Amino acid sequence: MNYHVLTLFPEMIEQGLGTSILGRAQKSGRITLDAVNIRDYSEDKHMRVDDYPYGGGAGMVMQAEPVYRAYQAVEQKIGHKPRVIYLTPQGRLFDQTMVEELAMEEDLVFLCGHYEGIDERVLEEVVTDYVSIGDYVLTGGELAAMVMIDAISRFVPGVLGSEESAQFESLQDNLLEYPHYSRPEIWRGRAVPEVLLSGDHKKIEAWRREQSVARTKERRPDLMEKQYTVTAAYFSPTEGTKRAAEMLAGELSQTPKYIELTRRRIRRQHVKFGSHDLLIAAAPVYGGQLPGVEGLFENLHGENTPCIVMAAYGNRHYDDTLAQMAKILTQQGFICIGGIAPIIPHIYSDKLGTGRPDGEDAKIFRQFALKIRRRLEDHDFTPAELPGNPSPEPKPMKGAPKFWDGTKCTHCQTCALKCPVGAIDADTMQIREDLCIHCMRCAKVCPAEARSYDASQVKAYLEGNYMARREVECFL
Ligand SMILES: Cc1cc2nc3c(=O)[nH]c(=O)nc-3n(C[C@H](O)[C@H](O)[C@H](O)COP(=O)(O)O)c2cc1C
Repeated sequence: MNYHVLTLFPEMIEQGLGTSILGRAQKSGRITLDAVNIRDYSEDKHMRVDDYPYGGGAGMVMQAEPVYRAYQAVEQKIGHKPRVIYLTPQGRLFDQTMVEELAMEEDLVFLCGHYEGIDERVLEEVVTDYVSIGDYVLTGGELAAMVMIDAISRFVPGVLGSEESAQFESLQDNLLEYPHYSRPEIWRGRAVPEVLLSGDHKKIEAWRREQSVARTKERRPDLMEKQYTVTAAYFSPTEGTKRAAEMLAGELSQTPKYIELTRRRIRRQHVKFGSHDLLIAAAPVYGGQLPGVEGLFENLHGENTPCIVMAAYGNRHYDDTLAQMAKILTQQGFICIGGIAPIIPHIYSDKLGTGRPDGEDAKIFRQFALKIRRRLEDHDFTPAELPGNPSPEPKPMKGAPKFWDGTKCTHCQTCALKCPVGAIDADTMQIREDLCIHCMRCAKVCPAEARSYDASQVKAYLEGNYMARREVECFL
């Protein structure tokens, strides 16, 4: 992360951020700090940068040209138009979601005003974000910029040690942090809560969570309003979709819940969601649409509950799947505020979607999750515009030829039990072709390798046409 601070007091910035964790991060090169003195860009022979305001009134105004020239020097140096943050009480209130969002940039420019402010025209020309750190007025923007840089840097990889960064902390999931205790066990007659001495990690975790919720309710009830319970409900016979859904859920909450719709029994259990829930509904793409599983997602019931639909696919295309999912979930009482189509390994080819979602995909997931978090915090439930036909003609799917080797089969019935559509007869081991969705879960789960399939034909077709890497698409 490279910070560029346009200021009249560069030494204030350099000194303020030169020690402790941020000093260390600069030395190790995780962050760089370039304090640009706006005065160096004055054309005035006395290096003045301010003048009287048009229309009269108290105080001086920073002139447009020196600010603009200082900005231009940064733009030229880095070779692209960066995000430019102007610190002002008129801006959007700085919060944890903004911290994490800004931490994803490579360069950030902070513009610090002084006196009565900066000529409006240069703000219009260069500023991309107006940000306030609180409802009070400072003597200049420098302290506010430093506050922002400190908070953002904590999310730059490598700035915090792994131990520091892995810990639960205030404001993740809009919860305040639980209380901490250290030695001695009894201090001036006050004992450490007993559970912390129990060594039972599960109990300790539950206690900490309880404390967090109680504290937030008591001290910051406004944050409770911003809280959402994230649940990912996924259908995923060979677990590619599951992995993508878990990655997204992990970006949206520290403690997501899961509903495994691959299991027939779970699909029969009805679950209700409220307005403080967020559902991620995830399924793989089969022939450009949802797998032909009767009643998929119909055990989930929302009450104007926000929802993200995820159509995971094997690098060919998702076609109508997102639109189809949105239609079903809307009928179930959800509002689809977002859609995402990640690439996952294709069951019929070891070359398509291999290793996906990968590190690049993770970044896109994170950006998408941050946008969703912002939408939830703003209670903005505008339905997403999703591509495709919401009611496609069902496609008969032939799938690859499947084999069963009676000499290897131990009749453990794992395949029959785990078949997501109950297409395998547990006595005869025969597959009912009218029910089978060709997901190949039976071959994956058979411990004796008695089940297999021959995907050579479809594999050759897919690899001949769809090898070019596709990127994750997000819709809001
Ligand atoms: C019958 C069938 C049809 C498929 N059709 C498509 C498709 O149209 N487009 C595509 O990109 N991937 C397609 N795939 C691949 C799946 O979307 C996905 O990559 C994987 O095979 C299944 O996901 P899972 O691991 O969550 O079960 C198909 C897979 C199967 C089994």
